[in-house]
Amino acid sequence: MKNQPVRHSDGAINEDLLSQLAYNEKMAELGKISAGVVHELNAPLSVIISASQMIMREEDVPEFVREMVARINSEAQRLSRLTRGLLNFSSHDVATGEVDLNLTTEFILEFLSYEAARRGVTILRQLDYHLPVIQLDANLLKQILLNIIMNALQAMEADGGKLLVETAFAGKDKVCLIIADSGPGIPPESIGKIFDPYFTTKKAGEGTGLGLFVTKKLVENMGGEIKVASRNGGGTTFTVTLAVEEQEQE
Ligand SMILES: Nc1ncnc2c1ncn2[C@@H]1O[C@H](COP(=O)(O)OP(=O)(O)OP(=O)(O)O)[C@@H](O)[C@H]1O
Ligand SMILES: [Mg+2]
Repeated sequence: MKNQPVRHSDGAINEDLLSQLAYNEKMAELGKISAGVVHELNAPLSVIISASQMIMREEDVPEFVREMVARINSEAQRLSRLTRGLLNFSSHDVATGEVDLNLTTEFILEFLSYEAARRGVTILRQLDYHLPVIQLDANLLKQILLNIIMNALQAMEADGGKLLVETAFAGKDKVCLIIADSGPGIPPESIGKIFDPYFTTKKAGEGTGLGLFVTKKLVENMGGEIKVASRNGGGTTFTVTLAVEEQEQE
């Protein structure tokens, strides 16, 4: 049964297959971005960063030169963070660790900023910087964000719109991620099917219908939940809630 998820009798999806599906989705989205090119960018970027830092440490540098060099330095650092994030992203290693929800969200929004601008979509951020770190695999969280946000951008393809991305506390020991778009919404007859494998309203070749299926499985494997609210014609909101690991008190 090629391309069909393998279900156990209790309906659970084989873990290896899920990870493979997630990986394939990730690779499809990353498309032509080559890890080699990203890697090559890091060397000149570190030269720019350290050279600009050396200039800034010099005395007798005119103020306007210092300001310009500081800008060069901060933009080079931004690019360096982005390329490093891309390299990690294209690795298939499972790496559970402390993840900052806001930093990961910022990374994906930066990564998709061109895709948003191209569609005339304005991104609004409402990030709560008091959130604690959470224990999970950052690549999988990026995958979840990428799937939900790409869907929102695709939904606003024709007329542009607004995308609000919010992080917040969700009661005790829980954090949530809210992604709200001003797109056309999901009709009532489809809303119950969007998490089903292969459900798509996109043209053949444009969508596999696996994005939200994989996303839901990934969220559930993290012990979290994903909910959707949508009105036909009135935008769509996805809420992902994740548990914060209890920190050991010393
Ligand atoms: N933000 C949204 N606004 C409107 N419809 C949406 C939104 N998100 C998902 N959908 C609907 O849910 C369907 C399933 O989404 P899913 O991500 O699983 O697959 P896809 O986007 O069609 O394909 P793929 O993810 O492989 O590109 C979409 O085809 C679309 O009809
Ligand atoms: Mg999708």
